[in-house]
Amino acid sequence: MGKPLDPQHVAIIMDGNGRWAERRGLPRGFGHRAGVEALRRIARHSAALGIRYLTVYAFSTENWKRPRGEVNLLIGLLREYFQKTIAELHEMRVRVRVLGEMAPFPSDVRRLAESARELTGLNDGLRLQIALNYGGRAEILRAAQNLAGQALRGAIDPAEIDEDCLARHLDTAGLPDPEVIIRTSGESRLSNFLLWQAAYAEFVVVEECWPDFDEKSLENALAEYRRRERRFGAVRRKK
Ligand code: FPP
Repeated sequence: MGKPLDPQHVAIIMDGNGRWAERRGLPRGFGHRAGVEALRRIARHSAALGIRYLTVYAFSTENWKRPRGEVNLLIGLLREYFQKTIAELHEMRVRVRVLGEMAPFPSDVRRLAESARELTGLNDGLRLQIALNYGGRAEILRAAQNLAGQALRGAIDPAEIDEDCLARHLDTAGLPDPEVIIRTSGESRLSNFLLWQAAYAEFVVVEECWPDFDEKSLENALAEYRRRERRFGAVRRKK
C-alpha cells in the first residue's frame, strides 16, 4: 500500500472537556462550551485542508449516565450549536448530518437537527457527521434487526448479506470508512465509536484536551497519520 495519502475521512473522539475545565478551577460546563468552539475551529480548518469527511463523537449512548445537570447542559449546547452554527457551516458549503438515534432528545433538538440536514443537504463541501446518542454496538444491532426483518419478509436472501450490504444499513451508509481516528486527552480507547468502520483506521492519540485542540494540532495529527505505514493485513508491496 506504500505511504498513505492525505485522509479523506477523519473521525475525532473529542475527549477531555471536563478535565480542561477542572484544571482551571472552572465548572465542567465551561469545558464543554470551549469544546463547541474547538469543533467550530476544526470543522473550518478541515474544510480548508480539503478533508472530505469529518465525523465527531459529540454524545455517546453512555453519556446519558452522567449527572442530569451535565446531560441537560450538553443538550442545551447542542440546541445552541444547531441554532447558531449551522448558518456559518451552510455558508462554508458544509453538509451536516447526524449519526445515532435521535429519539431520546427533546423534539425541538430533533427538529433542529433535521432542518440542519435539509438546509445543507445539497452542499458540496466538507461532509460533517455529528454522532449523537451514538454507539457502535447499537448501530450494528439496528442494522442486524433491519436486515433480519427484511429476511423474514422474504425481501432479502440471508446468503446475500455481505460486508457491503451490512455497511449500507449502518448510520454511515454512503460514507467511506475513516482512515484515521483521533482521540484527544491522552486516552487510547475506542469507546464504542465507529466499531465497524474503524477496522483499518489508524488511531492517533494526542495529549491535549479537546478545547485546546487547534488548527496546528490537527495538522500534527495528520502528519502522524502520514508517517504510519498502512498495510491492511497484507505484506509490504515492493516498490
Ligand atoms: C468529552 O469530555 C466530551 C463530551 C462528552 C462531549 C463532547 C461535546 C462537545 C465537544 C461539545 C458539544 C458538541 C456539540 C456539537 C454541542 P469529557 O466531559 O468526557 O471530559 P473528561 O473526560 O475530562 O471528563
